[in-house]
Amino acid sequence: MRDSLLIKAAFSEQTERPPVWMMRQAGRFMKEYWDIKNKYSFLEMCKTPEIAADVTMLPVDLLGIDGAILFSDILVTGEAMGGDLSFNAGVGPLFANPVRTQADVDALRTDVLDKLQYVGDAIKVIQQRLAGRIPLIGFAGAPFTVMSYLVEGGSSKDFKRTKLMLHNEPEMAHQLLSKIATVTADYLNMQIAAGVNAVQIFDSWAQALAWDDYKEFSHRYIAEIISKLNRKDIPVISFCKGSSVFAPLMAEAKPDVISIDWNVDLLDIKKRLPAGIAVQGNLDPHILYADKKVIKERIYRLFDRMKGENGFIFNLGHGIMPDIPFDNVKYAVEVIKEYRN
Ligand code: CP3
Repeated sequence: MRDSLLIKAAFSEQTERPPVWMMRQAGRFMKEYWDIKNKYSFLEMCKTPEIAADVTMLPVDLLGIDGAILFSDILVTGEAMGGDLSFNAGVGPLFANPVRTQADVDALRTDVLDKLQYVGDAIKVIQQRLAGRIPLIGFAGAPFTVMSYLVEGGSSKDFKRTKLMLHNEPEMAHQLLSKIATVTADYLNMQIAAGVNAVQIFDSWAQALAWDDYKEFSHRYIAEIISKLNRKDIPVISFCKGSSVFAPLMAEAKPDVISIDWNVDLLDIKKRLPAGIAVQGNLDPHILYADKKVIKERIYRLFDRMKGENGFIFNLGHGIMPDIPFDNVKYAVEVIKEYRN
């Protein structure tokens, strides 16, 4: 896998074209996903290695992307620590026992790898199916983003309770974040031992934080996790919404790749990062709703801007929305695979 387009680009080596994968590439925009989803709950899908492998393989077989991503969710760490997790159509993830007091924080377990063994098992099945064709990306949620679900009890627009805990009870917040960080580092090392070829850390809601708070409550724990990873030949990708602002700080945690949102010119931000850090991104996912002519123009605009740059992986600035036409996603991958640097 070291010679694959994705891993070479992640290590800032030259490739004949940018590799492509997309966040949420296995999901509700695909009819084939619904064929499986209609039979099982989302957590059953994640926890049954054969089914997780079937779903992981959908975009490999139907889209021809350059990297597979493990089918799972960032919230499985919170569940393993003691969160009572469910996913409900139209509502999203719910933790029935939110973490709001010191006693709640104290009750969370950190020795939980046995509870996540199904992920290691899924990775082994997926690697058999991939048979060396393309790399497999493992992932985990960043402590701040996972904390937000544990504290709010589900999705949130303003993260009011989470931010109140950071501001009013910083010591308790640090204990919670530190517990999640310990579990996350162990969990990603378990995924690496099971055979993933790259890992991505998702800090989806970091953009809710002020600069100082990002530094104190998010960045610091991501840096701790990255420093603990057994990363020989395994690139580490750091994603956050808000990376157009936080990227220079994210670089200090020493990831191999920073995944960039669509609010910034990708070349400009790459030039502001230390040499040797690759960028991933940064098409606005809404472009995939547009006419094919527009999709092609915008991909070429991005690629021509990045021409000659080593260390560029195509992705969206965030995940594919469930109602994006499958045909448009397939078309985008075709356009990208025809491009030559
Ligand atoms: O990218 C992939 O194809 C791999 C699988 C993957 C899922 N979730 C599957 C999923 C990955 C990498 C994730 C990460 C994840 N989960 C994040 C970080 C990425 C991001 O989008 O910022 C977050 C914040 C979550 C939490 C989560 N899981 C939410 C908020 C929801 C519900 C709302 C939504 O956007 O779907 C989920 C459920 C979920 N995770 C689904 C899928 C395919 C939908 C489940 C269904 O079919 O109902």
